[in-house]
This record gives sequence, structure tokens and C-alpha cells, in this order.
Amino acid sequence: MEHKTSALNGDFGIMIENVTCDDLGNPDFQRKAYDLWTRHGGLLAVRGDDLQDLSPEQLMTWSNVFGEIERGNMVAREGKTVPGFPILRIGNIKDEAGKPLAQLATVPQLKSDADVQYNPETRRPVWHTDSTFRKHPPIGSVFHCKQAPPEGAETLFADTRSAFARLEDEAKKKLEPLEAVCSLAHHDKKISRYSPGYPILTPEQRAANPPNRVPVVLKHPVSGQHALYGLNSSTCAVLPKGQDISDTQLDLWDLEGIEDDSVLILRDLLPYVTGPDFTVRWHWQPGDVVAWDNRCTMHAGTGFEYEKYTREMWRLTLLDESQAKAVA
Ligand SMILES: [Fe+2]
Repeated sequence: MEHKTSALNGDFGIMIENVTCDDLGNPDFQRKAYDLWTRHGGLLAVRGDDLQDLSPEQLMTWSNVFGEIERGNMVAREGKTVPGFPILRIGNIKDEAGKPLAQLATVPQLKSDADVQYNPETRRPVWHTDSTFRKHPPIGSVFHCKQAPPEGAETLFADTRSAFARLEDEAKKKLEPLEAVCSLAHHDKKISRYSPGYPILTPEQRAANPPNRVPVVLKHPVSGQHALYGLNSSTCAVLPKGQDISDTQLDLWDLEGIEDDSVLILRDLLPYVTGPDFTVRWHWQPGDVVAWDNRCTMHAGTGFEYEKYTREMWRLTLLDESQAKAVA
């Protein structure tokens, strides 16, 4: 069957249908897909009945088109993998003993398209960029759907490139000299405040994971386009680039889990960034593979009826080449 290509929201996001497992290993198809991914804001989905039988090897080959696959400790820290592969198994699946494979982050199920947009009162959906607290934040991720509930569990994506491009010049000028301070200790402490029992870092772990500072306006190394960047649960402050942080300030953010008011510079933009002009609500079908670029998108997970349905997703994390070498 011939491939069918369709846009997801204007020039943001692209889907190719009638894709087979063989296509994903075909260099011509790979080149075309990478080009489409870059030109459509770093969001590409492939769909096809055949993809329900995609093997871990084939998924690895496909993921490699978009970046270097992360292996090692970081992957193991986050949960259970497909045996022998750096592929995380995510969802509410259980092991042979009936124990949940992964800790499920319970988030609300969307009731309507209006729920896609960030609500400052509930702080939902939890829109974010992955792992900006890491010295080398991952450049993207690949998700492959093995089992999907008939409703709910959509993944939401926002086009931070177009959102930035359409800001007033004055707003752009204010954002360009800023950077986001992202701290793993802050992240874990903040989560432990509403999920009691969530582990927080030991003093040694905290010392080994100092905050990472990332530009609030990131220039994409491939497309050269600028995008809003740097917001996730680890973001504890937004400051002028290079500004000193006192130990007292950092202790407040890391040990108390308190977010500096300056984060509102980014957070207040979220309702705009996640409005209908810039977002995609992706409904998963078994077999779907979606690759996204963290440098020009944000994303959020949504809930489903956890007791009624089963969801299994396979996830790979992408690094750029220099990061992969630095981690190895
Ligand atoms: Fe994420």
C-alpha cells in the first residue's frame, strides 16, 4: 500500500501511514522521515498494521535515525527494560508475578480538547521538556505503542518553535538573555511533597548532581530555529545568564522544594504555548511509533481508566552524538 502523509497541526507534526517494519529499515525512507521530522517541528509519527509486530531490533534501528540511543544507568534508573535492550517498558503492565512493572504516574484523563491547554490553577496537564536537569539533556525520545486503551492515554505535544516565533519582539528580547536553573534535588523534593515516600537525594547524590542551566531560548543545532526551552519539574528559577546563585537560595529550592517566583516567566507562557494553535493531541494505536525532539517541543501525558484497560509503551531516549560519547 502506498504511504499517506498528513500534517497534524499546520506545519507542526507529521504522520506517515501504511508504514511497514521493512520501511523503518530502509535508508531512503529513513532519510525522508528525518527530513520531514526536521521540517515539521520535531514531531513525526508512523502508523501501519504491520508495525504491531515491530521487534526491539527494528525499533532500535528506527530510533537511531533521530539520535544516538541512550544506554546504561540512566535507563535502568527509570524502570524495567525489554530484556537485552535499552528500551523502557511503560504503562500499567504487570510482570509474571502480577507486580506492576513500572511506577505509574497517575494523571487526569482529558475530557475534551479544551483540557489540552495548561491550566495554571491545577497545573495540569504536566507540560514539560524531559530531563533538563541533566548535564546533557536528551535531545528527544521515541515511543512505540504495544497496547493502548480505546480511550484516554493520549500524549500531548506543543510546538515551542512556532510559539516563540509568534511572540512580540519585546517578549522575545526579554527571554533571550535568560536561562533556566534545573535541579534534580529540587525535582525530587518537589514531587515528594505531593507523593509522600518519593525518594529524595542524599547529600552525596545532591553534590554529584548540581543544577544544570539551560537557555530559555534554545537555538536548534540542525534547523537553526529558536524555541522556548527549559521548563520541567526540576526548573527552580529563571535568571539572567550566568547570574550567581547563593547557597541559601539553592538550599531553599533543593531542600525545601520551593520554586522561585522567577519560574513564572516561563510558566505564565504555558497557556499560550499549549493553546490550540501549537498543540497536537496524539491518540495511540497499537504499532504507532512517534519520535519527538525535545529541543523544539514540549509534551505531557494524560490518564486513562487504569483498572479497566492495559497500556504498554516502549520508550527510548535520544542523545546527540557528543552527549552519547560523554556518557559512555
Ligand atoms: Fe516526559
